[in-house]
Amino acid sequence: MYLGVDYYPEHWDIDMMDSDLTRMKEMGVNTIRIGEFAWHMMENEEGKYDFSFFDNVIKKAKEYGFKVIFGTPTATFPAWLSKAHPAILSEDIDGTKRVFGGRRQYCFNSNIYRQYSRKIVEQLIAHYKDEEAIIAWQIDNEFGHEGSDFCYCPQCHSAFQKFLEDKYKTIEKLNDTYGTIFWGQTYNGFDEVPIPKKTITTHNPSLQLDFARFRDSSINSYAKMQIDIVRQLKGEHQQITHNFYGGFFDKCYNQNTMAEELDFASYDNYPVWGGLKEPLTPAHIAMTHDYIRGLKNKNYWILEQLMGAQGHTVIGYLPRPNQAKMWSYQAMAHGCSNILYFRWRGMNKGAEQYCLGIIDQNNRNGRKYYEVQDFFKHISEYEHVVDSEIKSQVAVLYSFDNIWSWKSQPQSTEFDFTNEFVRLYTPFHNLNVNMDVLSVDKEFSKYKVIILPVMKIIEKKLAKRLEEFTRNGGTVIFSFRTGIKDENNNIYLGEVFPGYVQNLCGIEIEESEALQGDQKVEILGRGIYKNITGVSEVWRDMINTTTAEVLFTYTDKFYKEKAAITCNNYGAGKVYYVGAGVDENTLNIIAENITKEVEIQFEKTPKAVEVVYREANDTQYKFIINHNEDEVVYGDDILEAYEVRIKKQV
Ligand code: GLA
Ligand code: ZN
Repeated sequence: MYLGVDYYPEHWDIDMMDSDLTRMKEMGVNTIRIGEFAWHMMENEEGKYDFSFFDNVIKKAKEYGFKVIFGTPTATFPAWLSKAHPAILSEDIDGTKRVFGGRRQYCFNSNIYRQYSRKIVEQLIAHYKDEEAIIAWQIDNEFGHEGSDFCYCPQCHSAFQKFLEDKYKTIEKLNDTYGTIFWGQTYNGFDEVPIPKKTITTHNPSLQLDFARFRDSSINSYAKMQIDIVRQLKGEHQQITHNFYGGFFDKCYNQNTMAEELDFASYDNYPVWGGLKEPLTPAHIAMTHDYIRGLKNKNYWILEQLMGAQGHTVIGYLPRPNQAKMWSYQAMAHGCSNILYFRWRGMNKGAEQYCLGIIDQNNRNGRKYYEVQDFFKHISEYEHVVDSEIKSQVAVLYSFDNIWSWKSQPQSTEFDFTNEFVRLYTPFHNLNVNMDVLSVDKEFSKYKVIILPVMKIIEKKLAKRLEEFTRNGGTVIFSFRTGIKDENNNIYLGEVFPGYVQNLCGIEIEESEALQGDQKVEILGRGIYKNITGVSEVWRDMINTTTAEVLFTYTDKFYKEKAAITCNNYGAGKVYYVGAGVDENTLNIIAENITKEVEIQFEKTPKAVEVVYREANDTQYKFIINHNEDEVVYGDDILEAYEVRIKKQV
């Protein structure tokens, strides 16, 4: 088990290194990550490569028995490069060229940037390919983060037009697919197609989805260029990874594509960051871990585990004593096998003075140091457990095309894809049911239950897969606006919603309503849900049933006979349609009934007590995670605030 910290020796007087490494060793560190922002230290003038500083750092690290993860430094290019070649700088949607000074300001489609990236990476890997202490290369840093996934520069515009020509071959095909006849937007050539910068009202939906696909292609092709170099030059003993950031659904690229090129996925786990007044919910954090694990269907690393309050210009919530330690256990419970903390010591200069680490600028071993030391000591006893495979019978499925379609047309001012995804994830999380989070392209036939939150785009091919899954006894759970669009982001003509899954769902939707602001609409249960009242928000579909059973209806004047939630028997399986943004309590009740129906092991726990079962060497272990700020009684145990226990099941 690799346990460690993100270390920036270049930030400090070199005389501090020995005491740093000694204190790390005493804390239980055996691995450090270095270098991901140090391009200028390795090439302070064009073509003058010098790795002597990091040669010394690695030599020192080896004296302490540490392994090393080295980051390729392309997230922060040197000032001399952007001065010599301003064309490498990306442009925002207003056409403002980003300037040197922050980070990640390069254009993924700049050939000049790709050439310089290639050179520094080739030199770096060639220099260290035989270094036994370096066990992995981290490619760049958090691709797409902080708005760097979008660039609207002339290079990207011409690359986008070529992307479209390669896809459609003829401009007539594009015009027809986009419906450019609307508002007289018919193009005579690909060179007339705009990059979707600011305009009056909004761009064509098909164009916007293709632009998102183009951004995905730009980022993934840049990453693949680097990964291919590293794979070609690295030592056999060295692996390749990338540290994905938590807001992955908001990043305009498909991390599955990148993960296919990696030996293992890594994750930067920040349950709270910047101006947030409180952390993400336990379910939301759990979902992010299941997502990262789902990228390669295997356990992953955390290369940046939050320990201190974080923020560039605004700091947010201060993690309470043992709370960040508890989040570390939660990560290990959900498939993280190796973990490094961001960062050893908070920096006293530069943009991240308020991104606190384990050690603060006072340079003392404080509360956080001893929490990590205790965690490292304890979790090391369970390496065989955290390395074990996680088996799930429920999968929550997503599609980036669908996410990008929602991004350009949220339809409700309250709509947020991640919120709607977590809305359907949470009730099963509350039952402590293991879940996988997967791209809808992946195989899902082995699961008992699959959940497809707000899956607007459903083509015939996916509809057929879902029909077969259900016919064979599976349970499908859809939510609102399902199946209304095709892969070109156009609404089906002549199809009753939900389009190709209307028979599967046993319903027809004639009318819908966006619920804005604090608009909440009551729903009332029928049958086994009789007299249960719930609340719907964000959106509601007014459902007519054909073969489905009505579980809940609306109660307001015009729509009290319209269904809000339905269930349809189809083949040997069932299909639930949750036609609104329904409240957690109501979904908890439905989820419990479904879980009992399909006979999945679950456990009801006190609020914000998370239980995760793992199995290793034919023995079951239970992670009991108290997310509460108060002590809680769980069975025969009393857990302190943010306490975690790992219990061997006899
Ligand atoms: C991200 C980056 C780090 C650092 C932290 C600060 O995760 O990867 O370089 O900026 O945020 O919280
Ligand atoms: Zn660009």
